[in-house]
Amino acid sequence: GRFISAPGPESLLIRQGAVLVSSSNGHGVLEKTDWTLITPAAAFKAFGVEEQDVDFHQTMNNGFFFPGFIDTHIHASQYPNVGIFGKSTLLDWLTTYTFPLEASLGGKEPLADTNGAYEGNRGTEIVNYSTSNPLSKADAVYTKVIRRTLSYGTTTASYFATISVPATNLLADLAFKFGQRAYIGRVCMDHPDTCPTYYRDETPDQSLANAIASIEHIQKLDSKGELLAPIVTPRFAPSCQPETLSLLGQLATDRKLRVQTHISENIGELALVKHLFPQYESYTDVYHQAGLLTSRTILAHGIHLDDRELETIRTQGSKISHCPASNSALGSGFCPVRKLLDNGIDVSLGTDVSGGYSVSILDSVRQACLVSRQLGFVNGGDKKWNIGVTEGLWLATVGGAKCVGMEGRLGGFEPGMLFDVQEIDLSGENSPVDIFGWEKWDERIDKWVWNGDDRNVRNVWVGGRMVHSGK
Ligand code: GUN
Ligand code: FE
Repeated sequence: GRFISAPGPESLLIRQGAVLVSSSNGHGVLEKTDWTLITPAAAFKAFGVEEQDVDFHQTMNNGFFFPGFIDTHIHASQYPNVGIFGKSTLLDWLTTYTFPLEASLGGKEPLADTNGAYEGNRGTEIVNYSTSNPLSKADAVYTKVIRRTLSYGTTTASYFATISVPATNLLADLAFKFGQRAYIGRVCMDHPDTCPTYYRDETPDQSLANAIASIEHIQKLDSKGELLAPIVTPRFAPSCQPETLSLLGQLATDRKLRVQTHISENIGELALVKHLFPQYESYTDVYHQAGLLTSRTILAHGIHLDDRELETIRTQGSKISHCPASNSALGSGFCPVRKLLDNGIDVSLGTDVSGGYSVSILDSVRQACLVSRQLGFVNGGDKKWNIGVTEGLWLATVGGAKCVGMEGRLGGFEPGMLFDVQEIDLSGENSPVDIFGWEKWDERIDKWVWNGDDRNVRNVWVGGRMVHSGK
């Protein structure tokens, strides 16, 4: 069939042919490709396989295979709140909407002391979950968010869970069961001045011990860490005591683990960091001194970083997850993606559910394009800021692969790469996209990006395993 990918910011690669996927150590890898074959019979012959020995898939008339999307920043626990943020901005959004919901997913005494922080107590009102199983609500939420992200073509996700070890471990169990490639982080937060009493670890040592408990559970599920891996997750500087940040930095270094956190998202947050960490040169310096800035670190947002901070992030090889939908929804600002890229920093896309209102990385591509134009406007109409469709898709695939340490293994159709793929059909019965037939293929991709959604996703594979079928 047709294979389309975005190997560079300016270049769509549109090819017709066939690929042979086979199992290597339990992972479906692209073993052979041939971009000259035009019939199934020719493909079987060239690859030396019999039709009955393979699971055969062919794209539709207006269909194509595309690398699976990589969501480098999503809070699985916040999924029930998508779209629910009112007029809040980051800091009041956290205390009003987010902490109560996360706390309600169980594992710790939930909702004993929310002080009415969340009127209506969203923690318990969704469905009557089993009272005999304290994780039944987490089970329902996490099952939904994994299924939903897969249905939108997200084959890899870097998840924040909650502070609860059992609920975080359940998220890992479910991602592994459904077959999504996932990095799972138990959220660390213990600062008594900024975290509510009902939702925080007691001490730095407890924060570390809980992080380790979850890491070890996850590594037991997948000892190679190729499909499922833990990720060290201090929520953000203001919610952690300095000692906790250092313990987690040491842990990540000692065990060579990925790290994820938030950085420089909101102006009020910057003031809070200055207030809580007066002896540090900058927000970035807080993480740097704690040993949290490594080449395996994903920093979400990175909107208001100064030049010295960019330089530190670049030299440390840390990555940025650009979350445009969230940045607009919470009024956080315009992330200068072009400047980050020009400074040699790897950038990817994150939905940041539920700061972001949608689990769709296709929507993040759209929002990245739109926000870049607003940024150009406030910078005197300079077109250099503009991100186009191809560059957005590159960030969503190759950019994601770089940011999760899977460059060359995810994001394309070259031999040796993992088969993490979405099959798109622009002409399905319920497609929100109308193709008239005269559009060139790059124009069809434009139409997909601006109006496509999960109704166009026909099948999704992770490591060669079919994990979703929307047929
Ligand atoms: N900063 C600290 N916690 C959060 C969170 O849950 N979402 C976002 N967008 N920013 C944060
Ligand atoms: Fe976030």
